[in-house]
Amino acid sequence: MDFSNKLVSWYQSNKRDLPWRSTNNPYHIWLSEIILQQTRVLQGTPYYLAFLKAFPTIKDLANSTEDKVLKMWQGLGYYSRARNLHFTAKYIVDNFGGEFPKDYSEVLKLKGVGVYTAAAITSFAFNMPYAVVDGNVIRVLSRVFGVSIPFDISAGKKQFQKLAQELLIEKKAAIYNQAIMEFGAIICKPKSPHCSSCHLQDSCVAYSTNSVAQLPVKSKKVKVNDRFLYYLLIEQKDNIFFGKRKSGIWTGLYEFPFLEFMKKMDEKQVMKSNDWLKIFLNSTFNIKSVSCEFIHVLSHQKIHAQFWRIKATGVELEEYELISKNRLLELPVSRLTEKYFETIKLV
Ligand code: ADE
Ligand code: SF4
Repeated sequence: MDFSNKLVSWYQSNKRDLPWRSTNNPYHIWLSEIILQQTRVLQGTPYYLAFLKAFPTIKDLANSTEDKVLKMWQGLGYYSRARNLHFTAKYIVDNFGGEFPKDYSEVLKLKGVGVYTAAAITSFAFNMPYAVVDGNVIRVLSRVFGVSIPFDISAGKKQFQKLAQELLIEKKAAIYNQAIMEFGAIICKPKSPHCSSCHLQDSCVAYSTNSVAQLPVKSKKVKVNDRFLYYLLIEQKDNIFFGKRKSGIWTGLYEFPFLEFMKKMDEKQVMKSNDWLKIFLNSTFNIKSVSCEFIHVLSHQKIHAQFWRIKATGVELEEYELISKNRLLELPVSRLTEKYFETIKLV
């Protein structure tokens, strides 16, 4: 048997039973793929089920508010996925009467859907002959065929896409695509792959040349920036300043006003900074407590955050609303803010 047929036959007896594998409803598959883009199966599954329960059809999702969609997404990270999901649901209702498009180029045009996701949706839902190329596929192909070109440069992307498309069994696109991803996820894993029990071992270039740990090759190292954020929970009577972010990875989520510095600051330094003075210039305030440092690691940044609880009068902040403390927990927030909420009693 060749590589592709071996994978399919391995898959048929080893696949995990996952909820989006027993459907070819494109809406369900689209939702699962958006969730699984940057989230593990174990973490994503309850969100997938909760979304389908709350929004059984694309129309239900389109009719929701963005706040509700973001609140349900809370904890999954990469919130642009949730905003795009909601936007695209409305787009599908407006342009296709709520019916998921079947045409590959229409699917690829949807916001939040790239080449990988378009291939996943059209192959899983409609068995159309588009090969998926995600991190799992790149890892399997680079090892089995000994492909050492970096996968994150344009020539590398092209080469993996071409090889994947050549290996696709066109009449079995859905099952073949699932098979290679599943194999990468549970056997040919990034760390400690199960080479000793792998049925492709005999034909695996990386295994025979002892280069499993060196493949796949990535050219760029992600640079992680340290950021030092001091969140201010400014209370005036029973209200607290809270606002919806308008840019960055946390767009649409609510957060407290914050001061940002290039390095760790002590309390005196924070209170001497211009940004602090601007906020408290015409006010009286009293610092009630300063939290410990929360470290929150994202793909490109490491956030060092502190939360300061402050009672004040006379503060005015245009970008923020004064919200009743009772309502804070209803609004969508980042996992960082949520972690802070878990440590304190707000009311
Ligand atoms: N990761 C991305 N898509 C997936 C799928 N359909 N099944 C399991 N893991 C996945
Ligand atoms: Fe992957 Fe190891 Fe199997 Fe090669 S032998 S395909 S590296 S699990």
